Amino acid sequence: MSIGQLQDQIAIVTGGASPRGIGFAIASRFAQEGATVVILDLDAGAAQHAANLIGQQHLGLACDVRNENQANQTVRQVLDRYGQADVLVNNAGVSQSQRLLSSTQEDYDLVMDVSVRGSFNMSRAVVPHMQSRQRGAIVCMGSVAAQRGGGILGGPHYSAAKGALQSLAKAMARELAPDRIRVNAIAPGMVDTDLLLGKIDDEGKQRVAQTIPLGRLAQASDIANACLFLVSDQSAYITGLVLDVSGGLHIH
Ligand SMILES: NC(=O)c1ccc[n+]([C@@H]2O[C@H](COP(=O)([O-])OP(=O)(O)OC[C@H]3O[C@@H](n4cnc5c(N)ncnc54)[C@H](O)[C@@H]3O)[C@@H](O)[C@H]2O)c1
Repeated sequence: MSIGQLQDQIAIVTGGASPRGIGFAIASRFAQEGATVVILDLDAGAAQHAANLIGQQHLGLACDVRNENQANQTVRQVLDRYGQADVLVNNAGVSQSQRLLSSTQEDYDLVMDVSVRGSFNMSRAVVPHMQSRQRGAIVCMGSVAAQRGGGILGGPHYSAAKGALQSLAKAMARELAPDRIRVNAIAPGMVDTDLLLGKIDDEGKQRVAQTIPLGRLAQASDIANACLFLVSDQSAYITGLVLDVSGGLHIH
């Protein structure tokens, strides 16, 4: 029997409760490689249900990543239970398509806080433990909206949040490299998940697909495979990268 790439590792994935979402696809892919996954999301029942869909040994917990106390307490719970955390994927995010003049202060706070403050909180919660073991891999879920200046579905506050998150990943990569903690980001193009619900219909998706060099939207599994690469030893010498997974939508 072959040994999985993440055998005996504990991986925390935020925003993983939706079975059609990117976080769930990442958690499932990691589990296939031998990891035990901890799915965090707003609703405890939904998080635990998602974890159970992957297998009984996995865990789902409620955690609003915007809240520093909740982030700290959740990571403490994971460490008390498993004694280690090898991987953190900062995947939780909210997308809104409001344009500049129709976005409110509340819209701005929500979109920025989930992506940026949430990743800041979760990383700060887990990094002391990773430093004590001198190992760890963190991935932040950005978007090509950051590089392209939006223009697909997300409004300007969404592009700004993803740009800030990708910069946070780079800065953490530089700061934490001496502790053997690697930090990278992924910039997906358009991924067919529930994030698109109410923003684009099937016809719209087909129109967008025609503008993508590879001719289709991404599936959540496309992003999960890239994420596996970034947390596995296959990318042992890569840190501070923003990996474009957009089917050529953004070629720079
Ligand atoms: N779908 C796309 O086209 C696309 C493209 C680029 C980037 N992304 C990014 O990928 C990530 C995953 O998106 P998805 O497409 O799977 O959407 P999704 O809506 O299925 O997943 C987002 C998850 O985050 C959770 N969440 C929201 N606020 C939270 C909070 N405060 N604390 C904890 N969890 C919270 C939601 O409950 C949800 O389960 C997001 O960061 C999104 O911005 C998506």
